[in-house]
Amino acid sequence: MGMATDRPRVLSGIQPTAGSFHLGNYLGAVRQWVALQESHDAFYMVVDLHAITVPQDPKELRANTRLAAAQLLAAGLDPERCTLFVQSHVPEHAQLGWVMNCLTGFGEASRMTQFKDKSAKQGSDRATVGLFTYPILQVADILLYQANEVPVGEDQRQHIELTRDLAERFNGRYGQTFTVPKPHIIKETAKIFDLQDPTAKMSKSTANPKGLVNLLDEPKVTVKKVKSAVTDTDTEIRFDAEAKPGVSNLLTIYSTLTGTGIPELEQKYAGKGYGALKTDLAEVMAEFVTPFRTRTQEYLDDPETLDSILAKGAEKARAVAAETLATTYERIGFLPAKH
Ligand code: TYM
Repeated sequence: MGMATDRPRVLSGIQPTAGSFHLGNYLGAVRQWVALQESHDAFYMVVDLHAITVPQDPKELRANTRLAAAQLLAAGLDPERCTLFVQSHVPEHAQLGWVMNCLTGFGEASRMTQFKDKSAKQGSDRATVGLFTYPILQVADILLYQANEVPVGEDQRQHIELTRDLAERFNGRYGQTFTVPKPHIIKETAKIFDLQDPTAKMSKSTANPKGLVNLLDEPKVTVKKVKSAVTDTDTEIRFDAEAKPGVSNLLTIYSTLTGTGIPELEQKYAGKGYGALKTDLAEVMAEFVTPFRTRTQEYLDDPETLDSILAKGAEKARAVAAETLATTYERIGFLPAKH
């Protein structure tokens, strides 16, 4: 379907809601996106339709959508190697989303844990129906592109399982139509933890901003956050996610950003204490975020180029999405529109 390519296809998305990406977004997902564009036919998008499941200021949403695209490019996505686009530029997402809504059981949707968490925080009167059907739109995102794999963090696993279920259900009812995708989740970095509460996932909605590393923070703010990360009462630098979640999280971050194995790091810091580890990791982090910030700003300073990258991406994405949607409509039994 769509572009002629022998490569397996990947698709993923990120919300433009928070402004800056955080370290969990990068290590859990975006870093894999960059790697996969070399070996896969890769589609990546900024999911603005998902963003409006919670209230958004129009000006901020527009700015944050460009900012998200700029950060993806700064992280290493190359529009020559992947298709980068904005979800609302491809109307087929909402169209297939409706079809998928009609295939999902109410109880099935009610079991989505992210909805339960988010709606519990907002109160059931303030949570929208859009937030409830959010995972079903995500199903449509993935199935439209016949994606083989979906690179995400651990928190998205249940949504990929729903995608598999709905793809199989549709195929069973109407004949083979959709590729059944697999999650692409890297165990080591699937869940990056909050620096202040290392038993909680790093998240933009954290109660304590000191635990959240935003990639666009001033590097000196990042350095401070790393240096004040919560560890534990003994001083031994050893990876043990259960007994020593704080140190283990720091080791994961350090190891991934530098390509140094965890055993090697354990050896390097044997007998040195947490201070030395944090000081060095703070430096590693500063070296990572400083050029990232500069590159993001360069893309933002040239919105015409940025918008034209997104326009080309949308055009490539639509070619694939339109074909899948047409097949889907035909299978369902919609009367073809005569032009
Ligand atoms: P979003 O915008 O919340 O997060 C983007 C990606 O970052 C990952 N992530 C993490 N990984 C490791 N540790 C963490 N602490 C951490 N926090 C976030 C997420 O798992 C995600 O991969 N529903 C999706 C967006 C979406 C999507 C899609 C993804 C919409 N349509 C289709 C894949 C395919 C979301 O809200 O991601």
